Amino acid sequence: MNRMDRMAAVVAVCFLAITTMAAVAQARPTKRLDGKTRMCRLIAQGKLGWESEPWGTGGKKFQEVCKSCHAKNSDRGAPFLHSESYTSKGWNSVFTRRRVQCARDGSWGVLSEEEIQFVADYLYRNGAWTYNPNSSDSC
Ligand code: HEC
Repeated sequence: MNRMDRMAAVVAVCFLAITTMAAVAQARPTKRLDGKTRMCRLIAQGKLGWESEPWGTGGKKFQEVCKSCHAKNSDRGAPFLHSESYTSKGWNSVFTRRRVQCARDGSWGVLSEEEIQFVADYLYRNGAWTYNPNSSDSC
């Protein structure tokens, strides 16, 4: 290979890496059909886009409230949880049914309904890697 060929190969590899990274970054869900309100939430843009990131209300309240019990080595009798503990669909069902022990015993009560929705958006958007854009959960 001469010098120009090698440069062209490097450029091609970089291009491939960048387009792959862009595709992966975009592959998070953009909409969440909330099971309680039956509202279609656009979680990749505007206010909801911000609030469903780790630095938004959703991410922050998850850390502050949920992780106060669901941290590693927690002594609160709660298993370790992070956003990838469930798939997007799984999280939606947790927040629709609200049958988990802590939802029933009032531990979510420190959060307003709006904050709970933001936490649900955050977990849905950052859930385990099985998001299917064609699933019935998207709206
Ligand atoms: C006051 C402590 C506490 C807080 C706050 C709390 N949880 Fe829990 N959570 C628990 C306990 C205790 C259980 C029951 C564990 C069991 O059944 O063994 C539980 C169970 C769960 C489960 C079922 C886990 C499993 O594997 O069975 C999920 C999901 C869950 N919580 C999510 C959340 C979310 C989301 C939040 C924040 C909105 C939250 N929890 C806040 C204590 C808490």
